[in-house]
Amino acid sequence: MCFSVLSMWKPIRIGTKCKQVLNILKERKVVSGEELSYELHCSRTAIWKCIKRLKELRYQISSSPRSGYELLSVPDIPYPWEMEEGFTLFHNFLYFEEIDSTNIKLFSMAKEGAPEGTVLIANRQLRGRGRCGRVWISPPGNIYMSILIKPQCKAQDGTFITLLSGVAVACAIRECGVSARVKWPNDIVVKNKKLCGILCESELENGNINFMVVGIGVNMILSNIHLPELKNAISLSECGVNMSRRELIRAILKQFERLYSAFLEGRKEDIRKMYLEISLPKGKVISIKTEKKIIRGRFWDVDRDGAIVILDNEGKRRKIYSAEVL
Ligand code: BTN
Repeated sequence: MCFSVLSMWKPIRIGTKCKQVLNILKERKVVSGEELSYELHCSRTAIWKCIKRLKELRYQISSSPRSGYELLSVPDIPYPWEMEEGFTLFHNFLYFEEIDSTNIKLFSMAKEGAPEGTVLIANRQLRGRGRCGRVWISPPGNIYMSILIKPQCKAQDGTFITLLSGVAVACAIRECGVSARVKWPNDIVVKNKKLCGILCESELENGNINFMVVGIGVNMILSNIHLPELKNAISLSECGVNMSRRELIRAILKQFERLYSAFLEGRKEDIRKMYLEISLPKGKVISIKTEKKIIRGRFWDVDRDGAIVILDNEGKRRKIYSAEVL
């Protein structure tokens, strides 16, 4: 048998009836199959099938012949129907149990015309991608999410979206009491270890951005994984936070909406200031790896065009556009 790679992964969906059953279960404590079938104008068998599907999706529902169905718990899984309310930019959510990479998938969907505001989330990735061609190790249970935007701006302004993505995630993580900082351009670090990585990939046309995919990976829990690649990684659970993925994704998307609309309004200077407030402290000794060499110096500033400014060992200011802070 021959499969197309793209069709191997299917987003998880539920039908309208199932959503209605779920909403009624959330609203009322206990509800009988008879009431549900009467209210939703369908057979008891149809209701039973919805309950079965919801249980498969890890909703805990008890059923008793006397009282009926009771929703005991909602799983911490960012299903679209649990996420899609309350946003202005984000409206089209997709969730995959497994995928190659949320960035790869969303990039190809964007080429086929997916709308701005599409959010693709996965439980695990088989070919997670990091910056500079690295692999992003993606075991189940962490956040792997990509968002699609169409900012209609010049390619060089895209650097600012890279920066604001970092600020958005750091602000969302700070809301849960963790003092996260942004390391240029947009790694999120806690205690000098990496909590989150962001990979922005754009399609350009005549020097303008056609669309941009912002891929965000947040380590929620990394216990039992002892790989040398993860020696400089930290997870939210190691920071003492036991937050649901749904809540954190929601907080990140809210912050992103806030900062992205500031960007669209041309408030780049505000974003730069917010970035500097939350970035590594001025004067911190850092090493920067450019294509050609490693430079040691002190973190000094982020310029109006998004470049990092360091003070090198001779006290000279150096502006660097493309590099990695080690
Ligand atoms: C980095 O190297 O710091 C960037 C890592 C970005 C990882 C995220 S996880 C979701 C999205 N899909 C990918 O394949 N990569 C990004």
